Amino acid sequence: LEEHRLRELLAQLSLKEKIGQMTQLHSHFYQDLNEKAAGQMMKMGVTDEMVGNSGSVLGASGAGRIKKMLKNQLEKNRHHIPLLIMADVIHGYKTIFPIPLALGCSWDPTLAKRASEVAAREASVSGVHVVFAPMVDLVRDPRWGRVMESTGEDPYLNSVFAQAFVDGFQGDDLKNDLNRTAACVKHFAGYGAVEGGREYNTVNMSERQMRQDYLVSYKSAIEAGCRLIMTAYNTVDGIPATANHWLLRKVLRDEWGFDGVTISDSGAVRELVPHSVAADEKEAAMKAIEAGVDIEMGTFCYMHHLERLVNEHKILESRIDEAVWRILKLKNDLGLFENPFRGADEEKEKRVVYCRDHRDQAQKAAEQSCVLLKNSGILPLKQNQKLAIIGPFADNGAILGAWSWRGDPNATETLTAAFRSEKIFKTYSSRGSGILEGNRELLNEAIKTARGANLIIAAVGEASNMSGEASSRAHIDLPECQLELIRELKALRKPLVIVLFNGRPLDLTPLIDDVDALLEVWYPGSEGAHAVFNLLTGRANPSGKLSMSFPRTIGQIPIYYNCYNTGRPLAENGDKKKYVSKYLDCPNDALFPFGFGLSYTTFEYSGLSLAAVRIAGSMSVQVTVCVRNSGKVAGSEVVQLYIRDISGEVVRPVKELKAFKKIDLLPGERKYLHFTIQESMLRYYHSDLTFKSDDGKFEVMVGGDSVRTLHVPFVLSRGRLVLIHDEA
Ligand code: IFM
Repeated sequence: LEEHRLRELLAQLSLKEKIGQMTQLHSHFYQDLNEKAAGQMMKMGVTDEMVGNSGSVLGASGAGRIKKMLKNQLEKNRHHIPLLIMADVIHGYKTIFPIPLALGCSWDPTLAKRASEVAAREASVSGVHVVFAPMVDLVRDPRWGRVMESTGEDPYLNSVFAQAFVDGFQGDDLKNDLNRTAACVKHFAGYGAVEGGREYNTVNMSERQMRQDYLVSYKSAIEAGCRLIMTAYNTVDGIPATANHWLLRKVLRDEWGFDGVTISDSGAVRELVPHSVAADEKEAAMKAIEAGVDIEMGTFCYMHHLERLVNEHKILESRIDEAVWRILKLKNDLGLFENPFRGADEEKEKRVVYCRDHRDQAQKAAEQSCVLLKNSGILPLKQNQKLAIIGPFADNGAILGAWSWRGDPNATETLTAAFRSEKIFKTYSSRGSGILEGNRELLNEAIKTARGANLIIAAVGEASNMSGEASSRAHIDLPECQLELIRELKALRKPLVIVLFNGRPLDLTPLIDDVDALLEVWYPGSEGAHAVFNLLTGRANPSGKLSMSFPRTIGQIPIYYNCYNTGRPLAENGDKKKYVSKYLDCPNDALFPFGFGLSYTTFEYSGLSLAAVRIAGSMSVQVTVCVRNSGKVAGSEVVQLYIRDISGEVVRPVKELKAFKKIDLLPGERKYLHFTIQESMLRYYHSDLTFKSDDGKFEVMVGGDSVRTLHVPFVLSRGRLVLIHDEA
């Protein structure tokens, strides 16, 4: 529709109809209602008229069903306004990719972009218009179950991935490219910082920290053109995000210029009551709309109270008009007025969804996302060995992870099946001990199987529902029955490889010394078993690097690489001084740090040097480093560049990731890599919240993880970058 026609449409809508557009209902409200459902609807105070006026739907899938629903709705709605179909497509629709935390470990944004392209294509052909992704919350506490949905603990890495995901979902011609969906970035804002890692808990941090670390990736998604943003469940400085005027109007609209749609998380408007900032649902509706929430998801505060609030002059109708305008505009930008079914196509759905090409891409993504955390040299596996593949994930297709509601674990190949289909090993398999509850019979069976083999692969981990929404854990070790399994396997004195399936960094201290190799595979998705087979056998070389630190114990949490030094830092040689910032019973550093990951080859870094260059009229520093594959096989390395601001107006992190490149190297090959440091990369939020750089000394560090780096200093003088030494 042309803009004036859309304006006319808005002008024709009654207040009730406008409020309908601002309400998202679950799909079961639209099916031919049986008496039970109708009864439930009545109990919730949702009438048929309200359903007819409603603007969007959550939880529908399948081209045929959605088309039928859309058709019914178009008939019911007086103005024939098409519905928006929204769904949680987080790491794939039916072809499931590795969980986002794993994709973050690929350090390959192009791969993330391709993953979301595939997800968008499958979702769109199945009738979905908007996906509730990417989730870009910065995470530092692995107890929080939702860390699996984030790309990790670093603002820069997260912001690069945020942009890649949005590009992949939306493409650059959303209206005409029916293979794309609109993206809804979530959860605005700071949800990743819930206290104690407990789901839905309070978030408390300074505005400076929020801007410095937490808001960066949402902003990146918005700058990439993301069309919607979802509010978070948590508070931000005492005000729930869903009623937070500062967040939703000042930062999002006024500062960032976002003109897309805001949607509450499910039930978050009504939750303003238990949050104790609203006395009842009516006040909750008032606070949410005043703050700038366009669509209420999951509850009915808008439907039941906005009309009265307008009539009582408690809110201006213009508040409603601005929200509805954005919603109609989104529908129009998706081309729904001309083609309400958009990409939904039953025939194409059969061909596209879960097709071979998509699954191949998912496999490639999984190969790039797994992280080799330990290897005494027994990996890659030598051929013709007698292998025992045991443990609860040995013969289990439930390796898709949370938020894979359309994925089918029963149709997902298991690790044992992947090994058997290749026939290059004698493979014996049995389940072992159970995921959570110990089962002595299974454990005995597993030990018996292991006895007959000359190498043991123990596929262990967390059940898929132990991470994701509402899945925080106070303890993040492997369930005790699996630790027991590992202890008993260790007693057999045979080479032991752990393949770890999980959705968060775990406490691996109790087992790491007992095992010969450990491959972190997260939830690797639909083709994960093949990817893991390729990695274990050396057909693919591990190249993933952690995007989140692994603690030595939960007592260290939160632990993240870009921390502050403190006034009493522990010396690097771990001196024995008492009055320094340390634990009496545990080192300060992570068991496996951010950026860490092994390969079947080794990489040598040398010749870190800086040169002054002029770019667009201003002086910049060009960083050069040489990376050589010093091993015997080809491999990929993620070259990471960190900067430390030696003295700031406020304390500055010990290092911050500012750039990275993933490169492929043949054995013996060396590459010279160049990075450019510009003044803008040195800016930070000062105590008065100005975002600028300061003159002074800096250090640039380059390496294959956040700990082992080469480093060289430089200076910023009157805004110009100046070298101190040429050579490290
Ligand atoms: O999109 C999700 C969100 O991440 C958590 N609450 C429910 C929403 C809709 O399913």
